[in-house]
Amino acid sequence: MSENDSQWWRDAVIYQVYPRSYADANGDGVGDIAGIRARLGHLRDLGVDAIWMSPWYPSPMADAGYDVADFRDIDPAFGTLAEAEALVEEAHEAGIRMIVDIVPNHISSEHPWFKAALASPDAPERDYFWFRPGRGEHGDEMPTDWRGEFGGTTWTRTGDGSWYLHLFTPEQPDLNWDHPDVRAEFESILRFWFDRGVDGIRIDSAALLLKDPELPEVLDDNPHPFHDLDGVHEVYRSWRRVADSYGGDRALIGEVWMPEVERFANYLRPDELHAAFNFDFLGCAWDPRLMRECVDRTLDAHAVVGAPTTWVLSNHDVTRHVTRYGREDTTFSFDNNLDGTPVDLELGTRRARAAALLSLSLPGATYIYQGEELGLWENENIPPEQFQDPMWGRRGHSRDGCRVPLPWTGDEAPFGFTTATPWLPQPAEWKDRTAQAQTGDPSSMLELYRSAIALRRTESFADFSWLELGRDVLAFCRGQAFACVVNMSGAPIALPAHQSVLLASGPLDGDRLPPDTAVWLRMTS
Ligand code: NOJ
Repeated sequence: MSENDSQWWRDAVIYQVYPRSYADANGDGVGDIAGIRARLGHLRDLGVDAIWMSPWYPSPMADAGYDVADFRDIDPAFGTLAEAEALVEEAHEAGIRMIVDIVPNHISSEHPWFKAALASPDAPERDYFWFRPGRGEHGDEMPTDWRGEFGGTTWTRTGDGSWYLHLFTPEQPDLNWDHPDVRAEFESILRFWFDRGVDGIRIDSAALLLKDPELPEVLDDNPHPFHDLDGVHEVYRSWRRVADSYGGDRALIGEVWMPEVERFANYLRPDELHAAFNFDFLGCAWDPRLMRECVDRTLDAHAVVGAPTTWVLSNHDVTRHVTRYGREDTTFSFDNNLDGTPVDLELGTRRARAAALLSLSLPGATYIYQGEELGLWENENIPPEQFQDPMWGRRGHSRDGCRVPLPWTGDEAPFGFTTATPWLPQPAEWKDRTAQAQTGDPSSMLELYRSAIALRRTESFADFSWLELGRDVLAFCRGQAFACVVNMSGAPIALPAHQSVLLASGPLDGDRLPPDTAVWLRMTS
């Protein structure tokens, strides 16, 4: 990490740590900061440029920490603020930047503001939320019929008869972003973390924040009374001013779910966010035409605003892509395959290996969700009574299958993750997917990721252009000297002439590229 590589987020490899499941040092079955510090070497050896840390703040964990009770401290289950500061420092010493997760749309119902708001209808904190009288003669009907982001209703009635809005669970009351105190508080939270040397902020549910104060129903001609309202951009312009006041090397990265690419790109205008997750790519089927369209759409949309593209295959909310790519329907989903859809893990793994080379050589930044580098799949066999995801029970989905603790060492669960029982069970078959088992095995997923990230540092990736190798092949150049070829057809294909193979996602068939396999090539003329 050198002082002058500003704009590092434009082409960084960013690794998402889900602290509950990375490594447990205090033996309670839940991951913690001490565990992350003890296993920071894994990330240094992997070669990542930055860590994005999912929420680690004090929280009742109604939504796995996305219900924050205090943004300026650390949940005791994860450690202390001093440990968090030490981690930032140690990461920096290892050349790794640090991104923390901020959740501005809602806070925990245990946050002091909400407790004060509930305590008295006259409390000034009441205005920090969306308290409204109910409809109907007795006020016992919800103010709107909006459906929640996790399914279910979006209003809960309080003891004094009024209702409050929560787009997620009742334990996550929505903040009123029209209130200047809310805006000032979050700018102060950004400074709190920037002052501690944090290099970036991941912004949860970034397009939600503002609500139409008239609270209209969701109708065909007004589908978004609480999504992507124009005023939200003013919030990010002010956040950008805060970030820029730290010398220009602090990044704001938005979780912006938005099907309309033009509206998505609005968040990335030069005075707003630096980058946003590419959910279009994350959801794209394993299909050469659709993938190519997705890449084009992504490049075009970002070019308009001059923002860097991002490539994301998985995160803590969606089915791991080893599983997704092993199903007949390879598109995005939230659940952990609860309906028992058949999965061909061998096929899924082969495609995930190819996707790793693809996502690490497209122009822009690449995000890796912890465990992707180990080739983990979704644990489909978690007994439902162990589900902790609040989506379960509301939408009939559970995101727990992708949140299972990482396997580090040994032949049996808990695979060095903890000395206790892990908070979610690990599949016994992960004994071949531990970091220890894969280290030094050139055919392993881990070594593929290590080699690819190392090469990415030394290759000079230049301008992107498609290489035409047939309808079912995704192939592109980065300048004159480098090409990536992904065979998405059902049959082996001939590799282009005048090249040498830098890295392959699987064994080649002579000089032919087998199906669902990718290569990086050095073009020689
Ligand atoms: C998006 C987060 O990624 C997800 O895990 C969370 O449940 C929702 N936002 C609500 O905060």
